Amino acid sequence: MGRFDRKVALITGAARGQGRAHAVKLAGEGADIIALDLCSQIDSVPYPLATTGDLAETVSAVERLDQRIFAAEADVRDFAAVSAAVKNGLAELGRIDVVIANAGIAPHSVDEKDPIQVFEDTLAVNLTGVRHTVHAVIDTLIEQGEGGSIIITSSTAGLTARGGTGTGACDGYVASKHAVVGLMRSWANWLAPHRIRVNTIHPTGVDTPMVTNDAMAAYLEANPGGATNLLDVALIEAVDLANAAAWLASDEARYVTGVALPVDAGFTAK
Ligand SMILES: NC(=O)c1ccc[n+]([C@@H]2O[C@H](COP(=O)([O-])OP(=O)(O)OC[C@H]3O[C@@H](n4cnc5c(N)ncnc54)[C@H](O)[C@@H]3O)[C@@H](O)[C@H]2O)c1
Repeated sequence: MGRFDRKVALITGAARGQGRAHAVKLAGEGADIIALDLCSQIDSVPYPLATTGDLAETVSAVERLDQRIFAAEADVRDFAAVSAAVKNGLAELGRIDVVIANAGIAPHSVDEKDPIQVFEDTLAVNLTGVRHTVHAVIDTLIEQGEGGSIIITSSTAGLTARGGTGTGACDGYVASKHAVVGLMRSWANWLAPHRIRVNTIHPTGVDTPMVTNDAMAAYLEANPGGATNLLDVALIEAVDLANAAAWLASDEARYVTGVALPVDAGFTAK
């Protein structure tokens, strides 16, 4: 008996990194998965985003656990595309209980060509994309009448702005990751009467392609003010976020809502 038997989780940014870890963790405990990812590039992002092949790997990983998965390429900036993918996922899997709004970009670089575009793209994915994701599914969760759990991936950059640099990427990232905390609190109020809980998780640096790339390495070398964690770890693992999100999604956290949960090796306590 798994914690998520007969439940369905919608995960954005599910092709790799934390999104795939969420899919594997929840599927391992009985959930079926609706997995969305862009699977193409955004011009202002200086590292490769996920590919169709990456999303196929997530599909295989979930299927190896004997769970069902509906995967679709959809851009969270496009409400119609997210809504259509959710509709198709629902047609196949029947319901949605857990939403992990995880898709994001961090287009930090030392030679930013167009800071205005970078800022706008970052807000569009990390903030507007979160709103689109939740609004595409919320009628379903409310109509089901069985509660639910919405988890938004913010960042330590949603709780502190240590290391701020004023670049389009830094401004967009910090602004969007703080802004989703506001959405989370507002939605926790809105949705509590439906027993739908809303929380944010706040990772410190995680070992995923978002940070293990040349552009981010050069940016961090030039701007070392971001500092280190309290616990002796440079980058935590995607599974650390999956473990935290699975708890938030489970009945063990049935009275936890409106909470900003750091999974940060002490970064924000410094
Ligand atoms: N890696 C870190 O150090 C770190 C730290 C704090 C917070 N985060 C946050 O964690 C979340 C997951 O990131 P990750 O570390 O797994 O990085 P990642 O780059 O491996 O994964 C992000 C995924 O989002 C997808 N994506 C990007 N734009 C999209 C769009 N418009 N529509 C749909 N999908 C899109 C990408 O293709 C990718 O698969 C992000 O919100 C990120 O900001 C990451």
